Amino acid sequence: MAASRLLGHSSLWLPIRWSRVAALGLHTAGGRMQASQQDFEKAQNDLKTLKKDPGNDVKLKLYALFKQATQGSCNAPKPGMLDFVNKAKWDAWNSLGSLSKDEAKKSYVELVNGLILSEAPAKDTASLSTGQKYDTLQVITEDNITKIFLNRPEKKNAITLQMYKEIGLALDEAAKDDNTVITVLTGHGDYFCSGNDLNNFTNIPPEGKEKMASDSAVILEAFVSKFIDFPKPLIAVINGPAVGISVTILGLFDIVYATDRATFHTPFSQLGQSPEGCSSYTFPRVMGLSKAVEVLLFNKLLTAHEACKLGLVTEVFPDATFQKEVWGRLRSYGELPKNSLVFSKQLIRDTEKEKLHAVNVQECERLKERWLSDDCMNAIISFFQKKAKL
Ligand code: COA
Repeated sequence: MAASRLLGHSSLWLPIRWSRVAALGLHTAGGRMQASQQDFEKAQNDLKTLKKDPGNDVKLKLYALFKQATQGSCNAPKPGMLDFVNKAKWDAWNSLGSLSKDEAKKSYVELVNGLILSEAPAKDTASLSTGQKYDTLQVITEDNITKIFLNRPEKKNAITLQMYKEIGLALDEAAKDDNTVITVLTGHGDYFCSGNDLNNFTNIPPEGKEKMASDSAVILEAFVSKFIDFPKPLIAVINGPAVGISVTILGLFDIVYATDRATFHTPFSQLGQSPEGCSSYTFPRVMGLSKAVEVLLFNKLLTAHEACKLGLVTEVFPDATFQKEVWGRLRSYGELPKNSLVFSKQLIRDTEKEKLHAVNVQECERLKERWLSDDCMNAIISFFQKKAKL
C-alpha cells in the first residue's frame, strides 16, 4: 500500500526544513511538551517535511490521534470488510476509545517531534545530546535521563556491527555523565529492534569466515558486558516488536516497560544459532525452566502480556498512551537521588556479576561455532533469497 495513500496526503514526504527542527527546542518547557493549538498546527506542518516514510503503523497512529484531537472519540460508521484502507483507519481511530482531545493532541505532537528528531543529523541535536556523535543512534540527555534511541527505523532497528559499538559507547557516556540518573534504551519507528542485522554475516573478511565469527564474538561479548556492568538503573522502553538479541538482553535491565503492541521473539533454533545476552541463565531464573525452553529452544513468540506474566516485562501499557505514561513515570524516577539508586542496584546485582560474565563468555564461544555451521549459513542464505524474490 502506498504510504501517501493511507493518509490521503499526496505531498507528505517533502524535503526536511532544518530551521523547523532547530526550532523544536523552543516548544518545550523544562523538557516537558506543551501541546498548545499552535504546537499542534506546527506538528501538522512539520509532518509534511519528513523525508522518510515512517511506516504504515506510525501513519495509522498519526491519523487516529489527529481525528481524536479534532473530532473526539470515533463516531463514524464502520467501513465494510473489503474497504481495507478505510477499515484500518477506522480501527486505529476507534482503538483510542475515550482518550481526551487534549491528550490526543499532546500524543500527536510528541509523536511528530520524535519522527522529526529521528531524521535530524547529529549536529542539529548537539545541544540535547551527550556530545558523542552517533550514526545509528540518537542520544538525548534531559530531565536527568539519558535516552538512547535505536535509529534505523527503515531496517526495523536491526543492529549492525557499528551499532553494537555505538550502543556500548553511549552506555559508557551515560555511566560517566553526572547529569544522568537513569538510562533508557528504546527505538524509533514501529519496531523496538529486529535483532542482529543479518548483513553482519555477509561481510566476510579476506582471512575467511572463521575470522568473521571470532571478530563478531568479541564484539558481542563486549556489548553484553556493557549491560552486565552498567552501574545506574537501566530501563528498556519497548515501543514495538523485539527480536533476537534485543529480547535476550532484557534480563540484564532493571525495568522493562512495553506497549501492548510489542511481541518478543528469539528464533535462534530456526536460524541455526543459540541464545546470547546471558538469556541462557537469566530466562530460566525469570520465567522458570520449561517456559525458558519454549522461548529459547522452540522459538515461541510472546505477546507483551505473556512476557509480563512470565516476569520478562515489568508492565504493559496501551499503545495509545504508552509514550506519555512511560515518560511521565520515568521523569519522576529521574528526580530520585542518584547515589542511592546506584548503591541499591549494586546490592541487588553485584552478587551475580561474575556468573553473568562467565555465562556471556560461554554463550559467545558457542555462537562462534554456530555462526560457522551449515544450519546457520543456510538460514541466512534463505533470508536473503526470500528478500530477493520480493
Ligand atoms: N537483518 C537485516 N535486515 C533486516 C533485519 C535484520 N535482522 N530486520 C529487518 N531487516 C530489513 C529488511 O530486510 C527490510 O529491508 P529492505 O527494505 O531493504 O527490504 C527492512 O528491514 C524492513 O523489513 P521488512 O522485512 O520489510 O519488514 P516486515 O515488517 O515485513 O518484517 C521482520 C519485519 C523483523 C519480521 C523481518 O524483517 C525479519 O524477519 N527480519 C529478520 C529478523 C531476524 O531473524 N533477526 C535475527 C534474530 S537472531
